Amino acid sequence: MNVSGTPFSDNIEVSSKSPSTNILTLHSVAKSFAGLKAVNAVSLEVHKNSLTALIGPNGAGKTTLFALISGFIKPDTGTIYYTGVDITGVAPFVNARNGLTRTFQIVQPFAGQTVLENVAVGAHLHYTKRSLALEYASHVIEKMGLLPHAHKLSSDLTIAFRKRLELAKALATQPKLILLDEVLAGLNPREIQEMIPLVKSLVTGGVTVLMIEHVMQAVMNLAEKVYVLDHGALIAEGTPREVTQNEMVIEAYLGKGTAERLNRKSTKLDMKAHS
Ligand SMILES: Nc1ncnc2c1ncn2[C@@H]1O[C@H](COP(=O)(O)OP(=O)(O)O)[C@@H](O)[C@H]1O
Ligand SMILES: [Mg+2]
Repeated sequence: MNVSGTPFSDNIEVSSKSPSTNILTLHSVAKSFAGLKAVNAVSLEVHKNSLTALIGPNGAGKTTLFALISGFIKPDTGTIYYTGVDITGVAPFVNARNGLTRTFQIVQPFAGQTVLENVAVGAHLHYTKRSLALEYASHVIEKMGLLPHAHKLSSDLTIAFRKRLELAKALATQPKLILLDEVLAGLNPREIQEMIPLVKSLVTGGVTVLMIEHVMQAVMNLAEKVYVLDHGALIAEGTPREVTQNEMVIEAYLGKGTAERLNRKSTKLDMKAHS
């Protein structure tokens, strides 16, 4: 709430600036785990109010990159800029308060709480009063099509609705940039078709989205720009069509069959087997 133009409080240094059209800029970010280069000199840009996809095989380093951006882990080297401010190593709760939030690949609702209570946790970031947090949570729940489930325990939801809950929890924090980690994984084609407009609605509602996704037809439909990660390093970037025609991407990730199907403009959802 206190971002955009105003310098961050807390432990964020307002030092170098990145171009203002980018909400997120990474300069040569790297992270190793016991000698394994999980993320290797990654540089990328996410434009304000766009939907950018991050794809690549399992183990490529996608989730690690999200953990680095959101502050759950610190990079060994490199710089992360958010709204032009260097946020490298800034704690996740500070980032969340400044509008940078993420969802988790493995959904983690508070099982003993209702859907409404779960979403209110996110809303509390900006509303200290319980009644206001609940009111804002109700509004988000409605937007995410969860109203009929508002008073169910989150543990009683189907996977498709748990994924919506994950989106709602993140949205309740009033993000400017949301990092979505495989929100379509585990959903059937009909559920994916229902989820795609919800993801689109984030962007039309003014939120910038960076999404990790294996469902390539969704990437083709949603993303303006795609980055492809393999063994920790970026191997391609471009429009969905450009990357799905890229030989290195076909070799490392898509396979020839999938690439050909995607480039025949198939309308069927293409479920990658990786996830
Ligand atoms: N906390 C960690 N400790 C050690 N190794 C990790 C840790 N997190 C991820 N890795 C390793 O880093 C690599 C990238 O993992 P990850 O970012 O989860 O890939 P992706 O999301 O692309 O499937 C994998 O080899 C994984 O085993
Ligand atoms: Mg992952």
